[in-house]
Amino acid sequence: MISIEGLNKIFSLNKKKIIAVDDLTLTIKEGEIYGVIGYSGAGKSTFVRLLNRLEEPTSGKVTIDNREITSLNPKQLRLARQEIGMIFQHFNLLWSRTVEDNIAFPLEIAGISKADRSKRVQELIDLVGLSGREKAYPSQLSGGQKQRVGIARALANNPKVLLCDEATSALDPETTNSILNLLVDINQKFGLTIILITHEMHVIRKICNQVAVMEQGKIVEQGNVLDVFTHPKKSVTKKFVEQIMGSSEADEDISNLIDNYNDGKILRLHFLGETTNQALISKLAKKFDVELNILQGKIVQTQAGGYGTLFVQAKGGIEEINKAVRFIQEETSVEVEVIRDAN
Ligand SMILES: Nc1ncnc2c1ncn2[C@@H]1O[C@H](COP(=O)(O)OP(=O)(O)O)[C@@H](O)[C@H]1O
Ligand SMILES: [Mg+2]
Repeated sequence: MISIEGLNKIFSLNKKKIIAVDDLTLTIKEGEIYGVIGYSGAGKSTFVRLLNRLEEPTSGKVTIDNREITSLNPKQLRLARQEIGMIFQHFNLLWSRTVEDNIAFPLEIAGISKADRSKRVQELIDLVGLSGREKAYPSQLSGGQKQRVGIARALANNPKVLLCDEATSALDPETTNSILNLLVDINQKFGLTIILITHEMHVIRKICNQVAVMEQGKIVEQGNVLDVFTHPKKSVTKKFVEQIMGSSEADEDISNLIDNYNDGKILRLHFLGETTNQALISKLAKKFDVELNILQGKIVQTQAGGYGTLFVQAKGGIEEINKAVRFIQEETSVEVEVIRDAN
């Protein structure tokens, strides 16, 4: 769907060269929600602006839906941009226009008739949940509502791709979630491919299927979200994963657990993918005559299922505990490790 080959952007600033995007090659499949995460200055905004040529590449090739964006003349590019919507951190709305007139703006540019425009605007307003606010001005809206206008405007011409540059970074956590839910909705309803730039790992966790980690203009790691989260290779990726999982050093606290809970076995259960949803603990408690006490752990949910670790104290007859452990090993895809045997 989107193929990016050898993409470069070099800025010259006071005779100094800044390599903002450095030889980037990447393929994004149709219908994916593809996240790009990196710290400030990594080159994320430049990268995403190269895709619709808001920034002209120094070299390299961008192809979207079999059309080579990087070889289009200005007129062709204007047309192609109707198929590439974009939303921004600070919304970029027209402050002197109402909600409906903001949303109508790209339709006016595309030469859509007045009657068709108002029909489409009303559809979009319903889609993003802004019914009743048609005549409001941006200054009268909350941040979340402003971004809904931004999304409606970006979708006006039925784009195939939506580019999101830190679209939730100016919003509080609750509003962020509602906007992310709206993006997932749109992705599922229309099969829209979404490229989402962020510096926040929970945004990736919540809605992305694929993730690329960017550092100094390069993509240093990429893959499906669950793989990258569970096996981060680069130190920058590990830091991002710690944002949501906590530091892996927390594992060292288990010596405290072992000291503080001195009867029964202590098990470490490692969940990956759909297994998290199996309600394993209650199943074990029903099936075996054991008492299970969750001591510590964290499970997070991603688009591809949950993953994480639980430390559990298992008390009861030794035979019964062993049976439960064997059941986990043989009948489930949860990894189990006995980290302290029954005394
Ligand atoms: N128009 C520009 N002129 C000069 N340097 C720029 C320009 N835009 C971005 N840069 C530089 O390119 C690098 C990447 O910036 P940017 O793409 O905004 O990163 P991010 O979005 O990840 O924070 C930074 O060093 C930034 O200062
Ligand atoms: Mg940026």
